[in-house]
Amino acid sequence: MKFIDDIDIKDKKILFRFDYNVPLDKETNITDDTRIRATLPTINYALDENCRVIIASHLGRPKGKYAEKFSLAPVAKRLSRLLGKEVKMAGDCIGPGVKKMIDDLNPGDILLLENLRFHTEEETNDDKFAQELAGFADVYVDDAFGNAHRNHASNVGITKFIGKCAAGFLMKKELNYFNKALENPARPLVAIIGGSKVSGKLETLLHLVKNVNKMIIGGAMAFTFLKAQGYEVGKSLIEENLVGKAREVMETAGKLGVKFYLPVDCVVAEDMNSEAETKIVPVQEINSKWMALDIGPATITVFTEALNNAKTIVWNGPMGVFEIDAFSRGTSALAHSVGRSYALSIVGGGDTDVAIEKAGERDNMSYISTGGGAFIKLLEGKDLPAVRALKNCS
Ligand code: 3PG
Repeated sequence: MKFIDDIDIKDKKILFRFDYNVPLDKETNITDDTRIRATLPTINYALDENCRVIIASHLGRPKGKYAEKFSLAPVAKRLSRLLGKEVKMAGDCIGPGVKKMIDDLNPGDILLLENLRFHTEEETNDDKFAQELAGFADVYVDDAFGNAHRNHASNVGITKFIGKCAAGFLMKKELNYFNKALENPARPLVAIIGGSKVSGKLETLLHLVKNVNKMIIGGAMAFTFLKAQGYEVGKSLIEENLVGKAREVMETAGKLGVKFYLPVDCVVAEDMNSEAETKIVPVQEINSKWMALDIGPATITVFTEALNNAKTIVWNGPMGVFEIDAFSRGTSALAHSVGRSYALSIVGGGDTDVAIEKAGERDNMSYISTGGGAFIKLLEGKDLPAVRALKNCS
């Protein structure tokens, strides 16, 4: 696969695919611009090479129809502020009006196209749509790691119709870190997997258990595992139909000599709300009317000790309902333990980045992926369609 600095882009017209699917509040203010900032090295490189910069992205899930709340206009404004230069905004992502704006660009100009997903053809990977996008530029550069697990026109189809393709610096960084974490890790390699459901993570668990030295399970999903071990877990969220699969993951760990860690105590409450009375109990003593909503202090100690000799840590998913302060201590404490460790720590997927930010540990992680679903797909051992397309193209 070629990267942007492997090809000649001097004076070229480049179409960039970025993942500017950023969170917005009700007034469409951007609440986290990490994904925009992460593309600045690639944009600045192209500007230094005197390129015309055309940017395409999606935002949210508008389902093929225009909706103001999914407009990329706030992104154009933020990008302009971050670059200290004008970013023109197109009213659409295809059509004669857009073509004219592109033809009028001068070297060093930047144009952001409107949300690709205002057209159904983006998600159906329509050839005509992909071809029209490809016709806008001499070179295509994909730096949308967060979207790389999607098989869409702007990140897969387009590569069939454009002469030159490459990946950007963000894609390079994401794939390099992933490689360090799972393809060629310094060992012991420890996976921390949390979140509410086993169902969304089953393939990740089955793949990781064959590759790691230790596996730590937290979050509500741990209670499906505890159920598989025969514990009564009260009203805790469990997936009865996956108890057998949870057992299979533990048996595989046993056969392969992978150390497997589950909570030994937990914070329980009758309801999942900030006013609820809470207690800390061993996992053997969860009352039938109570539910576990966080890992307890003894578990924090056990998990932290398990991280002591780690050389690589991969973390996906919180340890409890961290959005509610009363149930956020486990996730915060583990974030501090990972932050203090000497291991290469790679975090991604779900709300893990939000939880780490809340714990004030962002700067102490080696790398926080900009990908949610894409990061999980890699953890499942799957290929990313956009990466495959780039490999076939360059
Ligand atoms: C993401 O935020 O994971 C990517 O931007 C992909 O968005 P999607 O799940 O709506 O396809």
